[in-house]
Amino acid sequence: MLALLSIMPPHIDVNLDNQASATNVDNSNRYRIRSMVQTDIPDVFKIDQATWNDEAWPLEHFFDSLNNPLYNCWILESTTTDYPVLGYGFQVFSDGISHITNLCIHPNRRGRGLGEILLLHMIDYGCQLGTSIVELEVNISNTPAFRLYVKHGFRIIQFLERYYSNTAHAYRMQLIMNKID
Ligand SMILES: CC(C)(COP(=O)(O)OP(=O)(O)OC[C@H]1O[C@@H](n2cnc3c(N)ncnc32)[C@H](O)[C@@H]1OP(=O)(O)O)[C@@H](O)C(=O)NCCC(=O)NCCS
Repeated sequence: MLALLSIMPPHIDVNLDNQASATNVDNSNRYRIRSMVQTDIPDVFKIDQATWNDEAWPLEHFFDSLNNPLYNCWILESTTTDYPVLGYGFQVFSDGISHITNLCIHPNRRGRGLGEILLLHMIDYGCQLGTSIVELEVNISNTPAFRLYVKHGFRIIQFLERYYSNTAHAYRMQLIMNKID
């Protein structure tokens, strides 16, 4: 069994099944994490474009990831509003490592704990599949994301010079889960 090094925020309850849901303490907002389907891609693509501009994934990349059996693609949505997609995450499993390739929250919904919910869900899902290592890359100037990862136990394992096509540098970060009996 694997134990998370990350600390689940006390007010958030995330189920570990494939249709995980999370609820805040006063039940005024409910969020659901579910597997992505093709009809989500236009919403996801819009958020990605609004976030990354020229550095956004091309549309085919979303379809390719969704159709790749090694990938798990997640949607975080509100169950209490008509607001369609609040965030998304992509993770790919290879050689015993869960690699988070994309994590993004709608620009108007950031800073409310949603990125944390989605990150923890992907870490937990990796645990369920027996993965003890989670890796990702982050732009060294992306302070919100970097702090989120550090908060949940990720450590820098590599400096990646000019990793992004606009020549920005990245850190490769890793979270190692403890094995417990
Ligand atoms: C990074 C991102 C996913 C975080 O999601 P979020 O919902 O805004 O963040 P949360 O509200 O869950 O915050 C969780 C933690 O992240 C860190 N964080 C989030 N926003 C931050 C900010 N503006 N400045 C510094 N730290 C921040 C903090 O550690 C925070 O914990 P705290 O509230 O206890 O301080 C979101 O900002 C985003 O989608 N950014 C654009 C896409 C992106 O950069 N993705 C990551 C690619 S590697």
